[in-house]
Amino acid sequence: MSYHAGIVGTGSALPTRILTNADFEKMVDTNDEWIVSRTGIRERRIAEEGEATSDYATAACQNALDAAGVAAEDVDLVICATVTPDMMFPATACLIQDRLGATHAAAFDLSAACSGFMYGVTVGSGLIESGVYKNVLVVAGDLLSRITDYEDRSTCVLFGDGAGAVLLSRVEEGRGVLASDLGSDGSGAKYLLQPAGGSRMPASVESVEQRQHYLKMEGRETFKFAVKAMASSTERVLEQAGLTKQDIDVLVPHQANIRIIEAARTRFGLDEDKVVVTIHKYGNTSASSIPIALDEAVRSGRAKPGDVIVMVGFGGGLTWGALAVRL
Ligand code: ACO
Repeated sequence: MSYHAGIVGTGSALPTRILTNADFEKMVDTNDEWIVSRTGIRERRIAEEGEATSDYATAACQNALDAAGVAAEDVDLVICATVTPDMMFPATACLIQDRLGATHAAAFDLSAACSGFMYGVTVGSGLIESGVYKNVLVVAGDLLSRITDYEDRSTCVLFGDGAGAVLLSRVEEGRGVLASDLGSDGSGAKYLLQPAGGSRMPASVESVEQRQHYLKMEGRETFKFAVKAMASSTERVLEQAGLTKQDIDVLVPHQANIRIIEAARTRFGLDEDKVVVTIHKYGNTSASSIPIALDEAVRSGRAKPGDVIVMVGFGGGLTWGALAVRL
């Protein structure tokens, strides 16, 4: 027996504290003009001290459950995509499961950096299609501020905090997840990583002094990879779904840089109103950026039932992924 899996509710949660480009001018050698012209970012949301990823991820999940009208007890699985878990273990998904009261759900974390939401939806929808589960919460939550080096101007201006979630359930044929394309190229692991805190370089006085617990990124290499990955993954997912670029009603790209988003928009010949952009107000929120943008598109009525939504992301790993979904 096989079923169809689709998105039946979306939710997101963002901190209220705003860090503007003017704030960064006081912290590092940068300026608003550079940040806006090179990235498209004007401000980003930063969590308060003492808060953790599960705080925002739980709120995003609750919003998605409310939107779907499904009770937490009916959730079978919680998948949390994150590279900034509350702790190394237990899984942040377990903390979310408990706080939601999802007492019948299994829970695990998934690490695929900014592509994490694409991976999570692919795994979750596969488990619904095969009949294993009926309701799967996929949440992407990251507080990148926790691993951002606020003395490194080449990365600190880029990132923000937040969480976005979807509830996946059985839907009628012709709707839901139409195709998925995932990929990995671990030879590029060196371009985007947090070197310390794992088994290779456990926390030590030296690792902290050498600032090895902060995210490191080769911006130019990541940029080149991102432009290629966005285009090729989108092309593959359209082909698998039997769609063409003209069929795209809404494109929800990972929000890393407006120039990367523009390259994808031009490549697929899409009008500006078909591409969801949140980067100016939230920066790069890692795995959360796509579900946050999707939630805003759904709640504003820009993404409507029956629309073909293409989501595409890339990130550390290196990883990439695209999904074609009929809402
Ligand atoms: N303010 C002012 N100048 C800066 C800043 C800053 N904040 N940051 C860097 N510069 C300087 C550099 O030092 C460099 O100066 P130099 O020429 O004297 O050496 C100059 O600006 C140009 O630097 P580039 O790195 O070439 O700038 P670029 O146009 O590539 O933009 C950026 C940098 C924005 C990081 C871009 O490369 C980018 O967006 N890359 C992709 C990042 C990305 O997509 N990450 C996604 C994954 S994130 C994840 O998975 C968690």
